[in-house]
Formats: sequence, structure tokens, C-alpha cells
Amino acid sequence: MDEKMKRLIEGLNSDMNAELNTIIRYIRHASVLKGMAGHEVRELLKKEVMDEVKHATYLADKIVALGGVPKVQLELPAEVFDWQEVLKDALKYELEAIAGYRERAQQAEEVGDIGLKATLEMFAEDETRHKEEIERLLG
Ligand SMILES: [Fe+2]
Ligand SMILES: [Fe+2]
Repeated sequence: MDEKMKRLIEGLNSDMNAELNTIIRYIRHASVLKGMAGHEVRELLKKEVMDEVKHATYLADKIVALGGVPKVQLELPAEVFDWQEVLKDALKYELEAIAGYRERAQQAEEVGDIGLKATLEMFAEDETRHKEEIERLLG
């Protein structure tokens, strides 16, 4: 396997772990929220987590299809309880996800995988929508 492909697979592993950690984070964060504002944030996180499951599943399958091995590395989510702290925490990782997918789309193009590049650009769009919805609730 050439160096470019190796680096792409490493990057996809990092994206997959970011997704898995976000799934855990959103389930945890949604569970602790209360009140009217908390309810709005809770509904948003529960909706977005379904996109992250699709992203993580695609990435794990793609890593294997490219000849790699998915390596799971989980992190503990932050112990935040206030809806604004929850949104700020979520926003930080959505921004990282957008940057990660842009970089990975570039790497996919470099190895000539146009289909993967298109999918990663679509994922960057999903994360941009998540970021904008979070910003809207943050006000
Ligand atoms: Fe995602
Ligand atoms: Fe997201």
C-alpha cells in the first residue's frame, strides 16, 4: 500500500473516531437537559446523532474496503449540564469535523477516489448544517 493511501486510511480512522465520540457525546448531553430551552437542544442533538451514525458506519466500511482496519479509540464526554455549555461543547467538535472532512476530501482526490471525495464533501455539508443549527440555538 502506498504512503498516500496509508495516510488517507489513518485520516478516515480519525474521522470515524470523531463520529463515534460525537454519538456518545450527543446521547449523554441530550439525556441531562431539562426545561424548555433544554428540550429544544435535546431534540436537535437526537436528530443530529442519526446523521453521525450514518457517517461512522460509512467510514468504518470504507476503511475496510480500502484495505485498512477500523481502530476504535473512545473518549469520555465533558460533564456539562447547562444547555448553553452543551451547545458550546457540540459546536467545537462540529467545527473540527468540517475541517477534517475538507482535508480528507482533498486526500481522497489525491489517490483518485472521486466517489469518496464526493461523499466526504457531502459529510462536510451535513456538519456545516449541524454547526449552523447549533449556532441558531446559541443565538
Ligand atoms: Fe458526522
Ligand atoms: Fe455533526
